Amino acid sequence: MVSPPGWNRSTDPFVELISAAAIAGRIAELGAQITADYAPLTQSADVVVIGVLKGSVIFLADLVRHIALPIVVEFIGISSYGDATRSSGVVQITQDLSRPIEGKHVIVIEDIVDTGHTVHYLLENLATRRPASTKLCSLLHKPERAERQIHIDYLGFTIANKFVVGYGLDIAQQYRNLPFIGYVKGS
Ligand code: IMP
Ligand code: MG
Repeated sequence: MVSPPGWNRSTDPFVELISAAAIAGRIAELGAQITADYAPLTQSADVVVIGVLKGSVIFLADLVRHIALPIVVEFIGISSYGDATRSSGVVQITQDLSRPIEGKHVIVIEDIVDTGHTVHYLLENLATRRPASTKLCSLLHKPERAERQIHIDYLGFTIANKFVVGYGLDIAQQYRNLPFIGYVKGS
């Protein structure tokens, strides 16, 4: 077997905030919670898990394997205008869902809620499509940066005000494939 490149497993040049093992453990708990909450609902309507591209992809891939129910997976692409590390609140859908969600139970999967602008826009947009219910699941939350009040129904971890990478999260499209969450040393 070919070994993964060293930088992809060593924490250098990153400061590790959340290890791969800690992420895996928390995701198993979230999956069990979602399974328990949605088990009574699957009879009435489909459960649609919507991953917000691209940051949530790795989280979603691991999470759905801990949801022991029939679900449908969808993706939505969102771009928020701003500089590299700060969203402006001006948000646009760059890739839409492939099917209507009217009458369905929707679970939105985000990588991180930072200022909250992106997810606020997204939840308002999805509400116009009249789903039966909508809940939000986010791997990370940075409460110090909140500019919108966002209720996160299923939260992985609360983190301090640091720009983090790994496990799907990027800086300038890099480092999404790190197996842990950390920040670049000195940042
Ligand atoms: P918000 O609109 O400020 O809540 O930002 C949401 C989006 O900005 C997230 O979905 C991420 O794509 C990106 N983002 C915010 N903070 C970070 C971070 O620390 N690392 C990587 N991406 C981030
Ligand atoms: Mg995102």
